[in-house]
Amino acid sequence: MTAIETPPEPCIRLNGMPVDAYPAIAPDALRGRLRPIVVAGDPVLREPCAPVAAEQFGTPELEQLVCDLFLTMYAADGVGLAANQVGVGLQLFTFDVTDDGFREVGHICNPVIEIGPPDAEGQASQRVTDSEGCLSVPGIYKDVARFDHAIVRGLDWQGNPVAVEGFDYIARCFIHETDHLKGHLYVDYLTGRHRRDALRGMHEFIEPLAAAREARAQEILAAAGASGS
Ligand code: NI
Repeated sequence: MTAIETPPEPCIRLNGMPVDAYPAIAPDALRGRLRPIVVAGDPVLREPCAPVAAEQFGTPELEQLVCDLFLTMYAADGVGLAANQVGVGLQLFTFDVTDDGFREVGHICNPVIEIGPPDAEGQASQRVTDSEGCLSVPGIYKDVARFDHAIVRGLDWQGNPVAVEGFDYIARCFIHETDHLKGHLYVDYLTGRHRRDALRGMHEFIEPLAAAREARAQEILAAAGASGS
């Protein structure tokens, strides 16, 4: 290979809108509190979440929940976190996910997902098998087939419309998180043996990863305090 590739312009979108730059840690996280992440077996992960109600938009409680999800997601090195994963049965997830030069950051309430729409050229999207993990099945990664294109529409915590589109790993993240809000886990797509292996295998990771999250959250908040932000 002799071609010299110019690095792609970084493309960052916040709640689906392009921004010139954005910190590595969303500022919302710095106002967040670390919440415990519930693991597979907890009924809250299995019940369809309630929509965020009209009177909840714009409230300090909903804003705080967004901040808590961001901090907890970063502390866990996650790329997405659904509210029911911290025990709150509301249709809301946060994300900060990068693939192929695109970074999508944001949160979305009451998401409606369109999975696998044809692309701009009319090409149908395809199912792609790739490794996937979940903060509620800690420490385990298994191959799952997902569509490689998704569009999610919903609202931000103030009730403004949000639309985000993702391909490949970003689409995988959006589909995985909206699945959570419907009471599904990625292990549901595994065959019996792989599913059992995942649900047994996660147990040894629960405590060490919870401890690591505590330490990482302290680091994130301390670094923000030191830089005065
Ligand atoms: Ni998950």
